[in-house]
Amino acid sequence: MNKRNVDLMGDWQRSCRCGEPGENDVGRELTLMGWTQSLRDHGGLLFIDLRDRAGVVQVVVNPEFTPEAHEKAKRVRSEDVLAVRGTLVRRSEETVNTNLATGAVELMAQELRVLNPSRVPPFQVDDDTEPTETSRFRYRYLDFRRPRSLRPLEIRHRMLTTIRAHLNELSFMEVETPVLTKSTPEGARDYLVPSRMHPGKFYALPQSPQLFKQILMVGGVDRYFQIVRCFRDEDLRMDRQPEFTQLDIEMSFVQPEDIFAMVEGMMARVFRDVKGVEVQTPFPRLSWEEALGRYGTDKPDLRFGLELVELSDRFRDSRVAIFTRALEAGGIVKGLCVPGAGNLSRKELDDLTELVGRYGAKGLAWIKVTENEWQSPLTKFLSEGEKEALATLTGARPGDIIFMLADDFDIVNEGLANLRLEMGRRLGLVEEGLQAFCWVLDFPLVEWKAAEGRYTAVHHPFTAPREEDLPLLESDPGGVKSRAYDLVLNGMELGGGSIRIHSPELQRRVLSLLDMNPDTVEEQFGFLLEALDLGAPPHGGIAFGVDRMAMLLSDSPAIRDVIAFPKSQRAVCMLTEAPTPVDARQLSELQIRTLGGD
Ligand code: AMO
Repeated sequence: MNKRNVDLMGDWQRSCRCGEPGENDVGRELTLMGWTQSLRDHGGLLFIDLRDRAGVVQVVVNPEFTPEAHEKAKRVRSEDVLAVRGTLVRRSEETVNTNLATGAVELMAQELRVLNPSRVPPFQVDDDTEPTETSRFRYRYLDFRRPRSLRPLEIRHRMLTTIRAHLNELSFMEVETPVLTKSTPEGARDYLVPSRMHPGKFYALPQSPQLFKQILMVGGVDRYFQIVRCFRDEDLRMDRQPEFTQLDIEMSFVQPEDIFAMVEGMMARVFRDVKGVEVQTPFPRLSWEEALGRYGTDKPDLRFGLELVELSDRFRDSRVAIFTRALEAGGIVKGLCVPGAGNLSRKELDDLTELVGRYGAKGLAWIKVTENEWQSPLTKFLSEGEKEALATLTGARPGDIIFMLADDFDIVNEGLANLRLEMGRRLGLVEEGLQAFCWVLDFPLVEWKAAEGRYTAVHHPFTAPREEDLPLLESDPGGVKSRAYDLVLNGMELGGGSIRIHSPELQRRVLSLLDMNPDTVEEQFGFLLEALDLGAPPHGGIAFGVDRMAMLLSDSPAIRDVIAFPKSQRAVCMLTEAPTPVDARQLSELQIRTLGGD
């Protein structure tokens, strides 16, 4: 490729951004700078669309007035960085472009400088051309020149600005906590950082600043927040990244009600200021049991109905063997009636069976309800009493379909929850623009992990048990409910938090319930227990996924769209290609030897 001439910027100063000149500026001499969006030759007159973050302005280069600039402009290519000096003029009536904010004016060039010519870009930079995912993130800087890709980040910025303003008005204080820290049990794998000064020892990158924010409460900070990067080495999904941002909040002397009210006020303001949407407060509340019972999940999408129905008791003595077998094995039977979906084809039913199969279900029972009869592979096994019960419990009417799953608790709930979402989508039940928030409360404190042979905390080990359940802590740990809560929006978990344990004795009891021996407890959490023993106030808090909030506010389908430089599915930075091998010298300084790998 020929080397093209580069002009110096000299003493030129930009007058304003490309998207800003308007009719009020007509007649002014302006210096504009930006990227070449496109170049058109109209019989000698050259038109350049000059772009920056604020928008696009049309530049006209007339060979008769400015032969020198015209010569230069002829060689301009897409994405060249230009500076143009000229006079802003009104466009003639028939050339006004109403699609462009600057569409009533154009810049008549007098002088043009090519500040930096661009190589031919790997994809055309405009909103009409969609590059591949790999190119978009490998060349994220080119991607950002497209308004469609920058918009989610602008929305994220506005969201964070609003949140900071709101919390500041409520006397919250932003405090930064360490990034090189000690592993805290949040449930995922840690990212570890070796210490050079202490060979063989490691820092952990925080999965959340949980213990620091609690310690801040002991220090009397009273109302803390932080917009903070957290790190979790877990498998990625559309709404998960290995490093993500939390809006982390903690408050002293509070009940859950205080936290709910604060969060509802903040969310209402964010949605109003950033999205122009009024959300209804207070948000509906569901207990964990109710959420699982009615929707099969602790993250219910309340934008539409289609509730699950518990059927176990009706089928204990049934002739339907798949049901009785599941029940005898300690499982459950639940159903989902989908109104008007009685015309699903064999192929569609096979697809839906495959869908629930992904969650472990071995099959999907269905009944098509018609005026005269019930069509189903199960018909001949269903008694009249069972049919009647099904009709009453599900409210099925002719034209509907009833789906049923029988298996263990998790498989049935997960399968039907996902089937419900799929049917909601297929039938277009999700009202566009609706924001359905809800609180999910009363989670169990602990769950039994058969593989590990011990209880683990459902939220985290610092979550307080419900006061009325304290006597059950040792005798029936699985029956103890916690003072934890999640905020769910449109079926996505936006945030989670709890009232914390502020008594060192209770904290020790809970840690020992989680099978931690007293030595490990002291070693891992000695600093926390000591702080709790030195006048810790009752306190509680919550943390929100900032990226997830930005996704919902910007209607982005994937979390990577709202992160400037996201990681790929394989946790690789698509720009720098990190993680990368390091120098042998660096490793030896850290006294680390690797066992190979890719
Ligand atoms: P939790 O683990 O529920 O709570 O995390 C809080 C919120 O952070 C978001 N989140 C994620 N977002 C993107 N990628 C991830 N990998 C990811 N993991 C979590 C979710 C989630 O609701 N210390 C507690 C909070 C507390 O008790 O105050 C905590 O971290 O939106």
